[in-house]
Amino acid sequence: MDLSTSYMGLSLRNPIIVSSSKLTGNIEGIVSCAKAGAGAVVLKSLFEEQIMAKAEAGLRKNDMYFWYPEASDYVVNIAKGSGVQEYLDLIKRAKQEVDIPVIASINCVSPVEWPSVAKKIQEAGADALELNIAIFPFDKHATSQQIEDTYIDILKAVKAQVSIPVAVKIGPYFTNVTGMTYRLAEAGADALVLFNRFYNPDVDIATMKVVADNIFSNPDEKSIPMRWIALLSASGIPCDLAANTGIHYSIGVAKQLLAGATVVQLGTTLYQNGIPYLSEIVKGLDEWMQKHHYKSISDFRGIVNNLPENTAAFERIQYMKRNFD
Ligand SMILES: Cc1cc2nc3c(=O)[nH]c(=O)nc-3n(C[C@H](O)[C@H](O)[C@H](O)COP(=O)(O)O)c2cc1C
Repeated sequence: MDLSTSYMGLSLRNPIIVSSSKLTGNIEGIVSCAKAGAGAVVLKSLFEEQIMAKAEAGLRKNDMYFWYPEASDYVVNIAKGSGVQEYLDLIKRAKQEVDIPVIASINCVSPVEWPSVAKKIQEAGADALELNIAIFPFDKHATSQQIEDTYIDILKAVKAQVSIPVAVKIGPYFTNVTGMTYRLAEAGADALVLFNRFYNPDVDIATMKVVADNIFSNPDEKSIPMRWIALLSASGIPCDLAANTGIHYSIGVAKQLLAGATVVQLGTTLYQNGIPYLSEIVKGLDEWMQKHHYKSISDFRGIVNNLPENTAAFERIQYMKRNFD
């Protein structure tokens, strides 16, 4: 079967991408993903806050800088530079070692720091860039419009600096997912990654500390991306769509493609089963295609959307008593 496809203009041997995580944070992990048959890899994100924290930690070691603000700016800039440099070195190394597309990822909370870093990422050889943007509404004075505008400002500022394709990875928590995704597509996003899955807090009752809960997804979560992938692809959104969260098996991959995804991204299943498990997922997709006589991905991508009643079913949000009781 021919599993090859195109994502943001990049040629992929199959539509299965390893999502941004620790698995893709070092060269060994990236090489393992390529060996296991990944169509592409998204590198671990370079975090804006991470660089700033590193810069400030460097500063704290040397209290005297607090008394010399100009010197402190200088030191912060050097520290920022070294965080970025490590990341650029990883991109260069990955490009030497693997022959699949390497998508860099940056986590942005403002349009200030990133546009210049994006340019360096392109120069280091990344095939594309994924912007992991997550601005939560913690400020009671911020309006929804202001928050959403920040996503667009970041995207536009980055797009002005690079010519490589740019994907935007967002979470599902928008009042108007359709409106927001169309704004991003129209502002130049080459793809949307739907959806990121965020850190979930819990309380440890022995220590009274807040701890991480459910770090990994479970397969039931697949419906959240699937609904929006189906509705947005059926409506003809002018960008590619990567399905992410809760895709654990080859059948899960097939389902998202049937719903209209251009590609899928996997994280949890490779943490839990090991990176080599990816080859089983590719094999499973191939076998499923054989069984259904699909010769290529385009033979079945989005066909679930051809039935109008399916669109209505993807739009359904309430359980109706007569159907379920
Ligand atoms: C340990 C861990 C680290 C992650 N780090 C990042 C990251 O740096 N950048 C990012 O965009 N997403 C990150 N993610 C989110 C994953 O890329 C992915 O969006 C999420 O886990 C949902 O996919 P899954 O259900 O296949 O795990 C991380 C996820 C996990 C579990």
